[in-house]
Amino acid sequence: MEPWVADLLAWYRSRERPMPWRGHPDPYAVWVSEIMLQQTQVETVRPYFARFLAAFPTVADLATADDEPLLKAWEGLGYYTRARNLRKAAQRLVAEHGGALPRTAEGLRALPGIGDYTAAAVASICFGEPVPVVDGNVARVFARRNLLGGDFRKPAPRRALADWLSPHIAACGDPAAFNQAMMDLGAQVCTPRGPRCGVCPLRPGCRAAARGLQADFPAPPPAKALPERTGTALILCDAQGRLLLAKHPGERLLAGFWELPAPERLPFRVRARRVGTYRQTFTHFRLTLDIRAAKPLADSPTLPEGFRWADDPAALPLTTATRKILAAHPPA
Ligand code: ADE
Ligand code: SF4
Repeated sequence: MEPWVADLLAWYRSRERPMPWRGHPDPYAVWVSEIMLQQTQVETVRPYFARFLAAFPTVADLATADDEPLLKAWEGLGYYTRARNLRKAAQRLVAEHGGALPRTAEGLRALPGIGDYTAAAVASICFGEPVPVVDGNVARVFARRNLLGGDFRKPAPRRALADWLSPHIAACGDPAAFNQAMMDLGAQVCTPRGPRCGVCPLRPGCRAAARGLQADFPAPPPAKALPERTGTALILCDAQGRLLLAKHPGERLLAGFWELPAPERLPFRVRARRVGTYRQTFTHFRLTLDIRAAKPLADSPTLPEGFRWADDPAALPLTTATRKILAAHPPA
C-alpha cells in the first residue's frame, strides 16, 4: 500500500461522516441508499432512506410494492424512474437470485438502474470487491493529484483512471473505506472551486497543490467548435465626411440596428483597401470581418432603401461589431 492510500484511509477513519447506511449489515439497504444518492445530496437522502426502509424492509417487500406507496415513499426525491427500477430489480432478484443481491460489480451492473458507479459502490461497500468508483468528484481529485488531462465525462479517461486506481484499492485491504473516502474527499475537500488543500490527506503527493495548479485541473471541456462566418465591412464616407450605414438585415435580435455595409450589398462601385480584421464570437457562430476603408467611385451616389448617410453615427443604434470597428478605425 502506497503512503497516500494509508493517509487516505486514516483520514477517512478519523472523520467518517455518520450515514445511516454506513456500517449497515444489509446489502439491500446499501443498494437503496446508493440509488437515492445517484442524483441527490446526502443530507436530503437521510430521511427518505429511513422512511423507505420502514415501508419496504426487505427485497421481497419492495418486489411486491404497489405503485402508490412506492411513489409516495419517493415523493420529493425526483427522478422517479429510480424507484420503478428499484422495484423491477427487486422482482428480478426474487425471481432469479432467491432475493439476494449479486456480490460482484459485474453481476450488479446487469440490474435495472445500476450503472458502473453504483455497481462499484455496492460491490465494494457490501462485499469488499476491490473495484474503484469513478465519477466526476473522484476524477477531479486525481486529475489534480496526478496532473491528468482529458475530459472525464468521456468513458476512456474514466476507464484509464479506474485502471490506475485498481491495484491501489486491491492492495489497501478495505475497498469500502477506500471508495467512500474518495467520495467524501471529492465532495467535501477537493471541491470544484476553492479546494481545502490544507486539510487534505493527499496533499503530500498532490502535484497540482505543489504547483498551485488546482484551478487548471481537471481541464475545462474543450470549447465547442462553432461554425465560422466571414465577411467584409466597409468604412465608407462621402465627400461631406458622412459615414455610410446599412440597416442590419436580420429580423430578430439586431433588427433596427445600423452597421457598416458589406460591399456585396452596395448598389455602386467603390475603391477599397484593407485596414484590419474584426473577430467576434456569438452563441452560435464565430464571425471574422475584413475591414476596408472605401471611397465611392462616383460623387454622392443615391442610396436605396435600408441605407443612410450618418453625420453622427454614435447617435444611432449600432451593432457591437460596428461600434468596436469604428472605435478602432475612426473614419477619416
Ligand atoms: N455518494 C454516493 N454514494 C455515497 C456514499 N456511500 N457515501 C458518500 N457519498 C456518496
Ligand atoms: Fe485536491 Fe488540494 Fe487535496 Fe490536491 S491537495 S487532492 S488539489 S484538495
